[in-house]
Amino acid sequence: MAKTALITGATSGLGYDFVQLFAKEGYNLVLVARNQQKMEEIQRTFSDIKVSFITKDLSIPNASKEVFEEIQNLGIEIDVLVNNAGFGLMGDFNELDIKQQLNMIQLNVSALTELTYYVLAQMKKRNTGKILNVASTAAFQPGPLMAVYYATKAYVLSFSEALVEELSNTSITVTTLCPGPTKTNFGAVANVEGTKMFKSAMPSDVVARQGYEALMAGRRVIIPGGLNRIGTIAAKFLPRSFAAKIAKSVAKKD
Ligand SMILES: NC(=O)c1ccc[n+]([C@@H]2O[C@H](COP(=O)([O-])OP(=O)(O)OC[C@H]3O[C@@H](n4cnc5c(N)ncnc54)[C@H](OP(=O)(O)O)[C@@H]3O)[C@@H](O)[C@H]2O)c1
Repeated sequence: MAKTALITGATSGLGYDFVQLFAKEGYNLVLVARNQQKMEEIQRTFSDIKVSFITKDLSIPNASKEVFEEIQNLGIEIDVLVNNAGFGLMGDFNELDIKQQLNMIQLNVSALTELTYYVLAQMKKRNTGKILNVASTAAFQPGPLMAVYYATKAYVLSFSEALVEELSNTSITVTTLCPGPTKTNFGAVANVEGTKMFKSAMPSDVVARQGYEALMAGRRVIIPGGLNRIGTIAAKFLPRSFAAKIAKSVAKKD
């Protein structure tokens, strides 16, 4: 029987690439995002797999619970959960809109946590399943000018690595994908296009493939790109105050 992957943020960027990767392997899909038209378009492109979608703004409290309830009503069991939806914002913490920043925490942190909670409980009953949480290289140091975004991704990495240990006696794996700058809509949404760090942005399909392969191999953490890996290793050894200064310098536009 075909397995089912649930992918949040499936309408664009990495999420869209995950859709293509899972579809190619014959997975049935459940897509979650706000743009219903786009999900209908995606659904129409596949005839050999079952594609369902749930139109949901995950930055609204309880949205993940509602998603899970809809999945249960559809009688679908999730074999792979890809917590990918997320966004960033660049600017001084006090100059960015507080409501938008709280929505970011709700989406990047709370929605991811809540969806994992419900889907993992179902996976535990079957003692099988795979979870891919999309963090970022931002997870490894403080990020001045994107303070809340970096903090949300530090949460995702810490949370996911803790689950790996909790689940070490089960057949359930949790993988954290930590991309560096990647060519998607993220840059425009976060207003980071034109910054030093985005000059070497990686193609999204390459990043998604590495994430997919790491997920399938049950790896703990995957950081695509040699330079990104070096950056995260350096961040582990540098004083955090210095790592924060570097993060600030690459967040500036020329
Ligand atoms: N691109 C990068 O440089 C980069 C680097 C590191 C980590 N990441 C992470 O990678 C993940 C995917 O981002 P991306 O780069 O692929 O960006 P993207 O192209 O902007 O895609 C973001 C996806 O999330 C969905 N989304 C946004 N807000 C949502 C909400 N409130 N409720 C439900 N879905 C929502 C969007 O769909 P709708 O608009 O249809 O809702 C879209 O499908 C994010 O977690 C991001 O933090 C990206």
